[in-house]
Amino acid sequence: MSLSSIQRFTIFVSQRVRRACTLLGKRLLDSQRLKGWFYPPSKVETPAEKYRQFNEDYFADLHAQERMLADEHRMAFYHNAITRHIKPGDRVIDLGTGTGILAAFASRQGAAQVYAVDHSSIIEHAKELAAENGIENVDFEDVHSSKFYLDEPVDVILHEQIGDFLFDEAMVPNVCDLRDRLLKPGGLILPSQFELFCEPMTLHDDRRTPYIWELTDVYGFDFSSMERSRPKDLEYYRLVSCDLGVVKHFLGEPAPIVKVDLHTITESTLPLSVKFTRKVRNPGLLDGLVVFMKAKVDDDLVLSSSPLDPDRAPHWGFRILRLDQSHVEIGDELEVTLTVTDWSDPETWQWTCGVWSCENLTA
Ligand SMILES: C[S@@+](CC[C@H](N)C(=O)[O-])C[C@H]1O[C@@H](n2cnc3c(N)ncnc32)[C@H](O)[C@@H]1O
Repeated sequence: MSLSSIQRFTIFVSQRVRRACTLLGKRLLDSQRLKGWFYPPSKVETPAEKYRQFNEDYFADLHAQERMLADEHRMAFYHNAITRHIKPGDRVIDLGTGTGILAAFASRQGAAQVYAVDHSSIIEHAKELAAENGIENVDFEDVHSSKFYLDEPVDVILHEQIGDFLFDEAMVPNVCDLRDRLLKPGGLILPSQFELFCEPMTLHDDRRTPYIWELTDVYGFDFSSMERSRPKDLEYYRLVSCDLGVVKHFLGEPAPIVKVDLHTITESTLPLSVKFTRKVRNPGLLDGLVVFMKAKVDDDLVLSSSPLDPDRAPHWGFRILRLDQSHVEIGDELEVTLTVTDWSDPETWQWTCGVWSCENLTA
């Protein structure tokens, strides 16, 4: 059957139209401007901005708050610090008030006014809790501290911005910003003295998780070939633990590797590389480095997250920076290097530990 000229014309036109539509669709799909319209490029966030969002979400969770409130060593440390050092009539900023508990301690201590600042939605609970507990002179400010302003500087900045790695809750930039803008000259930061430790240690054998390639006989199954796939990413070598039984002993005499006084420190004065040695006094296996912190208010008022301290505040984890296992003897020297790009970002930490045998040292 032959097609009429009208039918041929209709087919010709519809083919052209279909082709034109395909081309137009392709053009539109390739158009950067249109893509930008429908899928606006997400704002590139700096690591600090990403952490700020994480922190805001994390502390909105009641579980995060109750773990801190249930930590008796932490609570006693702060209660003592506030009753000893906040004076009646003081004006106080509570940076990161959470449930408002430290602001309430300060208020009960006779503070004239407390500004309780928190960027997380937990602050809504803090307001209610204060009202229900008869706390009246606390202003709750639902804002990140960097956007908090006052006409008159205050006498005290109170804070608990202590991370497992000490610096990983952005304590230094947050406190320094408020100190430089809103603390009276000679004003008090509570707490202000911090020490970071990074100690070579032996793990308890039954608690140590071996590297997967060290498992040569799991019911007759051998994983040693996994060493060929040994991860290069340092994330694999960094563990967090709250297990108090995990660290058997420190190999040397513990000493702080970084000391901070928040009254005087600036972020840029923190060293980005720390090198130190430990003389081995307890022989054993070098399994890695354990990172923990101490905060000090007075000589008899210390908060610790050391895994070997019976009075440690239990809700803080400590960090284990794994090393390939090696045996060390009394008198051997361990040379540790810790390099960071940003103290508040544990992902930027890199570490090495060299062992100098005492035989070679004395030779
Ligand atoms: C470790 S919790 C301490 C909570 C409370 N002060 C306590 O001791 O129970 C830290 C709190 O600070 C808040 N926070 C952290 N950085 C902040 C900032 N720069 N500005 C405002 N709030 C902040 C978090 O949302 C969180 O509630």
